[in-house]
Amino acid sequence: MKILHCNEYGPIENLEWVDIDSPIPNDDEVLITVKAAALNYPDYLIVQGLYQFKPPLPFAPGNEGAGIIKKIGKNVKNFKQGDRVYFMAPYGAFAEEICVNAFGVSHIPTDISFEIAASYQMAYGTSYHALIQRGEIKEGDELLVLGASGGVGLAALDIAKAKGARVVAAVSTDEKAKICLEYKADDTVVYGKGPKDKEASKAFSTELKSKSLKGGYDLIYDPIGDCYAEPAFRSIGWKGRYLVVGFAAGEIPKLPINLALLKGASIVGVFWGSFTGREMNINHENIQDINLMLSRKEIKPLISKTYPMQNAIDAISMIGNRGVIGKVVLLNN
Ligand SMILES: NC(=O)c1ccc[n+]([C@@H]2O[C@H](COP(=O)([O-])OP(=O)(O)OC[C@H]3O[C@@H](n4cnc5c(N)ncnc54)[C@H](OP(=O)(O)O)[C@@H]3O)[C@@H](O)[C@H]2O)c1
Repeated sequence: MKILHCNEYGPIENLEWVDIDSPIPNDDEVLITVKAAALNYPDYLIVQGLYQFKPPLPFAPGNEGAGIIKKIGKNVKNFKQGDRVYFMAPYGAFAEEICVNAFGVSHIPTDISFEIAASYQMAYGTSYHALIQRGEIKEGDELLVLGASGGVGLAALDIAKAKGARVVAAVSTDEKAKICLEYKADDTVVYGKGPKDKEASKAFSTELKSKSLKGGYDLIYDPIGDCYAEPAFRSIGWKGRYLVVGFAAGEIPKLPINLALLKGASIVGVFWGSFTGREMNINHENIQDINLMLSRKEIKPLISKTYPMQNAIDAISMIGNRGVIGKVVLLNN
């Protein structure tokens, strides 16, 4: 079976498809025929050696997907051959088959396609955890989302609207703003390439603030960091919570800490991967609520592009070009 391998850290083009024997599940694993696998920002970083941890080489990228159970290990009780499932795995989702510990596998809710099932666990799981456990969002809160048309950003917008918040979506282009309005953003800010000097930063902050009906946001969701973070933080309201989610724009920003004092504000870290291991039961409840919202059509994960699995290298490159809207999914025939 075919699987994408990273043999050395470096340019995305160095990734290589290899043919290996079909993997054999251990007693606690299931073997899944992969139908769909979703791309996430860390896929782009990890193969270049730029992620927060570096797996030993060679390794197989891809964490999230969906497919059909082909074989089960002897300790696995809750799955059988032929079940439609979605999974989170440490490695190896960009492949024809994958062995996953049964703990990371769930049945696909009825009426959900392989593409959708493959695509929402990480984005919606992260944003749900960020907004509910870390941000303690409530009806009527005002939320600013940066990078609001990306994977986690659009999920944050979608969930926050379902929970009754007012949402201002900030993005780099008019096209991305249009998508956010389709997802019921109450207002948008288009920041182009971003503020690079002091004046532009001040103007950006003033614009963000002007879009808040309360004169400052209860919550700010930041998956991009870099030059956007400080002006965004300056638009926070009294006792606001600033959710640190990621640094897709490049640099890890440094904030003058007195800004937190002046607003009685909190800087709140979000680390979904760690949360899923440390607080498994709460994560399980989160996923159940996400599935419920999905079945009630209160949320609507967006897949903007699909590619054949063999085009994974092109698809991963797109992440670094700011080319992703919602989610991109790779499909096996
Ligand atoms: N903390 C956690 O638990 C957690 C979990 C999942 C993901 N993350 C992090 O969240 C961030 C976003 O992940 P994602 O999967 O949503 O990624 P994505 O779908 O590629 O979206 C990233 C967004 O960042 C913006 N961006 C700004 N500068 C960029 C640049 N130079 N290159 C690419 N995008 C840029 C883009 O929007 P504009 O063009 O509109 O600016 C884009 O929509 C990543 O840093 C990821 O590692 C964190």
